Amino acid sequence: MVQIYDPNFVRQLFDEMSATYGIVNLISSFGFCRRWRRQCIEQLSYRESLTVVDLMTGMGELCPAIAKRIGPGGKIIAVDNSPVMCRKAWQNHDGRLGCELDIREEDALGSEIPDASADRVVCSFGLKTFSLDQTVALAHEVHRILKPGGSYSFIEISVPPARWLRVPYLFYLHQLIPIIGRILMGNPDNYRMLGVYTVAFGDCHTAVAAFRQAGLDPSRRSYFFGCATGLVGAKPQTPSNASQGW
Ligand SMILES: C[S@@+](CC[C@H](N)C(=O)[O-])C[C@H]1O[C@@H](n2cnc3c(N)ncnc32)[C@H](O)[C@@H]1O
Repeated sequence: MVQIYDPNFVRQLFDEMSATYGIVNLISSFGFCRRWRRQCIEQLSYRESLTVVDLMTGMGELCPAIAKRIGPGGKIIAVDNSPVMCRKAWQNHDGRLGCELDIREEDALGSEIPDASADRVVCSFGLKTFSLDQTVALAHEVHRILKPGGSYSFIEISVPPARWLRVPYLFYLHQLIPIIGRILMGNPDNYRMLGVYTVAFGDCHTAVAAFRQAGLDPSRRSYFFGCATGLVGAKPQTPSNASQGW
């Protein structure tokens, strides 16, 4: 039985999907993925020269919107453990953003980003491929890399709570997205996995609990009737009494 949260399995999945990920994501979300990325970024305030970490950056989809907000003195640290995704991120953005860009092929659960070095941490659609334990580890990692007072915003595709939307949504996710994936020359089994992850993920409630446990004071967000959910918050200025356990 394949361990769907095994980092090697997830890395290979995204390596293989990288050729078609962008277009399938856009078509299969009816364009909503762009709007949700923008909304994820807009949850936070920015100013010139901030350091922003984009976790699970993929092909750097969030980078242009971040760069616009932090200007030439700012820095984006983009993290992804898929070598193919990182290569595409470089191809898309190297020298084009107008701010410093550091793309790191690293595990977001154990990166070499220094402690307390990030002003902002953002992440679009990178939560669903983590198990509960990995989500807890991620929360502690976000706490570690954020400066005191630094803030974060995460967004993820979710299963909407209302039945009238959930039934057609799940049909679409399970039946139609793999077909779109096949038409666009991807492997339909890979796109089927996105449905498996999304159903197992549900929504951001587990991540909210993990981030709260890590002392990151999250609030939950819902986007378009819960078809995406998110969490937004900040690391306290003073050390909290966050528990190290779940
Ligand atoms: C669904 S894509 C999202 C990409 C992009 N943020 C977007 O908005 O489309 C998830 C990304 O997370 C990356 N990823 C999954 N697990 C990871 C891990 N443990 N560390 C770093 N990146 C990871 C995958 O390689 C993939 O590129």
